[in-house]
Amino acid sequence: MNRTLFLILAVSVFTGVMHAQSNAEMDKEIESILSKLTLKEKVAMCHAQSKFSTPGVERLGIPEVWMSDGPHGVRAEINWDDWGYAGWTNDSITAFPALTCLAATFNPELSGEYGFAVGEEARYRKKDVLLGPGVNIYRTPMNGRNFEYMGEDPFLASTMVVPYIQGVQKSGVAACVKHYALNNQEEWRGHINVKVSERALHEIYLPAFKAAVTKGRAWALMGAYNKYNEQHCCHNEILLNKILKTDWGFDGVVVSDWSGAHNTMESALYGLDMEMGTMTNGMTDSEEYAYNHYYLASPFYALLKEGKIDESVVDDKVKRILRLMLRTNMNPTRPAGNKNTKAHQDAARKIATDGIVLLKNTDSFFPIDPKTTMTIAVIGENATKSITIGGGSSELKAQYEISPLQGIKNRFKNATIIHAMGYASGPSAYGRVIPSKLDADSLFKAAVKAAASADMVLFIGGLNKNHHQDCEGGDRLTFGLQFGQEDLITEISKVNPNIGLVLVSGNAVAMPWLNKVKAVLQSWYLGSEAGNAIAEVISGDVNPSGKLPFTFPVKLVDNAAHHFGKLSYPGNNIDVVYEEGILVGYRWHDTKKIKPQFAFGYGLSYTGFDLNNIKTDKKTYSADDKIRVSCEVKNSGSRDGAEVIQVYIGKPGSEVTRALKELKGFKKVYVKAGKSEQVLVELNVNDLAYYNESAADWSLEKGNYIVYVGNASDNIAQKLKIKID
Ligand code: BGC
Repeated sequence: MNRTLFLILAVSVFTGVMHAQSNAEMDKEIESILSKLTLKEKVAMCHAQSKFSTPGVERLGIPEVWMSDGPHGVRAEINWDDWGYAGWTNDSITAFPALTCLAATFNPELSGEYGFAVGEEARYRKKDVLLGPGVNIYRTPMNGRNFEYMGEDPFLASTMVVPYIQGVQKSGVAACVKHYALNNQEEWRGHINVKVSERALHEIYLPAFKAAVTKGRAWALMGAYNKYNEQHCCHNEILLNKILKTDWGFDGVVVSDWSGAHNTMESALYGLDMEMGTMTNGMTDSEEYAYNHYYLASPFYALLKEGKIDESVVDDKVKRILRLMLRTNMNPTRPAGNKNTKAHQDAARKIATDGIVLLKNTDSFFPIDPKTTMTIAVIGENATKSITIGGGSSELKAQYEISPLQGIKNRFKNATIIHAMGYASGPSAYGRVIPSKLDADSLFKAAVKAAASADMVLFIGGLNKNHHQDCEGGDRLTFGLQFGQEDLITEISKVNPNIGLVLVSGNAVAMPWLNKVKAVLQSWYLGSEAGNAIAEVISGDVNPSGKLPFTFPVKLVDNAAHHFGKLSYPGNNIDVVYEEGILVGYRWHDTKKIKPQFAFGYGLSYTGFDLNNIKTDKKTYSADDKIRVSCEVKNSGSRDGAEVIQVYIGKPGSEVTRALKELKGFKKVYVKAGKSEQVLVELNVNDLAYYNESAADWSLEKGNYIVYVGNASDNIAQKLKIKID
């Protein structure tokens, strides 16, 4: 290799910067390759050849495209033709915290670190496309897949998704943002038709996808299983052809969700580029090569041959696929990637500690002095249960996973730690609930006994990744905690009221036990470093600074989707009607004055923060202006910590229904004990527009607006009036 080329390669590997071709060069190369392909070869590139790959063109040196789930780490190798694990011994990886945790950090920089690290792992594992991130909006706490998404607010999800995508793609791997669109429940996900107003579609459900495409420049996108406008989202004229490819100018590849394609003509004409996961009629006993049964395989070829579909249709798909390849596996300066590095583990731990949310802390229960010699009873199945196994396609084979119990033992060396499981949920199995064989009564009694003998209790429970908990392929069945946890907490509180509860979940849960425990930490699914991260927060090594990315309602009917009854969730098996329109999450609670258990944006700290001197730079703005909101954040306590300044905007007397207020800007700031930091949050005036259904476009209303500045959606330090003219 000559010296200059070596240097370019070395620098690009080192910095992670790729010297990609310009668009014009790329287009030229694409045209040149396309002209050499036969129709058969083109069609073959549009569908799978195995569970997670599409074929290349050997005679031209065009490689295969390899994909992997996503989004919390790179999934273990799957068999060629079925869902079994291939049993490799070199495919264990770093498990990163679930995306709900990432969203709870309110820290876009960490999202970039997350994306880059997981991208490097995907690259090392020779993947070209990482199937993630997911940005479906949190509409109901019953959705089994909420843990894979970024919460209920479109602005938060849009802000957090962009650096993740840029990070992944900097590693030379395409991010595949999913599941586009309206896949907000798992129940009947394969066929349910979502009826939603145009306004809610554009204001709530699409913005994060739009940001992923127009700002994150995602190279791939996955269609959702469900239908919109009576058409499956994987071949949907409005969502894919009009909105994604025309209005947003998406130049990447639309991948179907696995078995999300249903019809050749629609797949061909309505925006699908790569068909994956379709069940063929006979993987093993078919006479013909099984993958030829795909909708975009032989049936597509036949229609092209007969002239019923124009060749420009397949050409467009192949051009997109080649573009993805020139950006990834055909880019000679692509970085090399690596996995399980200290940097990745540190990133996983940092994101985990930054995302943990302190919900309640009576009598400063937390932090617990790490030198304590007390007896601590650690109770609950989640103290030891793996949280990277299960959950469906986001399941991971972590190289290691520190359990909460292990993390606590490591950090509280002088304490006597006793552990009781307390309840048992049974093993994880996809699509099935397998009851535990352990005797529930004995587990219950042993836990109460352990609690009685200890100075304090750390109850580590919540949900898990089993079917009907936080898991793909099914929704939750109850809003409360299962397996007797609610009774167990009550009984424990009778023998030892000194309880701190660590809620492991990706969803809100009912908390009838809230006044029986002193403290609650929302700890999500934290990945490889789970136990260390929890111990760091419990011990006060890290001051918690996470904020809820979704509302915890008191009762399920307080949630907007549930307020409107069955047709609104889960639907009637044909349609689901989003009756609440734009009033999703805190927008509903605020506007209808329904007090939540814990509000969107809420989260405590071990120190206190005062927000002073809150101002806007002007009183009157016009479109295209920036609104600069400044504020002084004083750390009034004795520990260093971080606070998230949140700026919401409301439009009183609007010509259309509006939420009382909507998040339009935020900034996380680290402030040393006793010190102050000046914070500037910039908002775009154009972001205050609403989607005008009759104009099919965004409308910016003139007049008075209210700027709400606070550290939670229900804790506003100051309201300011501004005017748009
Ligand atoms: C999931 C996708 C996933 C795909 C491949 C589907 O069931 O919905 O999120 O990427 O499987 O595993």
